[in-house]
Amino acid sequence: MLAFDDAGSGRPIVWIHGFPHASAIFEPQIAIPGYRHIRVDLPGFGASPPPRNELGMRDYSHEILEVLDHLGVDRCILAGISMGGYILMQILRDAPERIDGVIVIDTRERADSDQGREDRYKTIAEIEKNGTEPIVDSMLPKMILSDLRRPDFRKIMLTASSAGMIAAQRAMAGRPDSTATLRALKLPALVIVGDRDPITSVEDARRMRSLIKGSKLVIIENAAHASNFDQPDAFNRAVTEFLGMRFGSN
Ligand code: MLT
Repeated sequence: MLAFDDAGSGRPIVWIHGFPHASAIFEPQIAIPGYRHIRVDLPGFGASPPPRNELGMRDYSHEILEVLDHLGVDRCILAGISMGGYILMQILRDAPERIDGVIVIDTRERADSDQGREDRYKTIAEIEKNGTEPIVDSMLPKMILSDLRRPDFRKIMLTASSAGMIAAQRAMAGRPDSTATLRALKLPALVIVGDRDPITSVEDARRMRSLIKGSKLVIIENAAHASNFDQPDAFNRAVTEFLGMRFGSN
């Protein structure tokens, strides 16, 4: 089973990290009061063992549902950043009856372009040749603008294994388009994006907001791709306001 962290009490929120992150990137969100925060490490990231087989989006989804079963959590709010957002959309297809609401963070619903897929295979070749560190260092400035927070984020990124990173790149290359999934969504939804996210843009976020009926969009100022870690106070305020509006005092 995946490694996980379970903190706080109240309605559960399951936080799904991106690439190449770990559950530790959601440390600042544990401060959001009145909720049970469940954070998972995806296979080969953080404290979860590397995968032994090739994985698809559905495998990541099933691994997370397995953690929920283990914890006896029937229903939850799902929050996913970037690759975590791709997995969130897969869970919406696999187990919609278990989801009360979604927070989609710096992500997109579209599948990769041909160029995007080609770039992933170059990333895989680079990891196979030189390990994870060069990729971590090339991605870090795209993740975090804050000089203060970059070193901590880098440390988290360096907990990713080569096998975990390669499996994730392959799975993302093969992921389906989730446009229809978002269009059919009838749950409370918050879309969040950093205004300076160079990986998934404000335009991507606006498009997702227009696909999800009744959803709310918040653009976090002075934040790159990992907006939750780059600007944790503004991010937590946005989430707290959304939760209060859609789920009341819990
Ligand atoms: C992520 O942060 O999960 C990745 O940058 C997403 C991607 O490569 O599409």
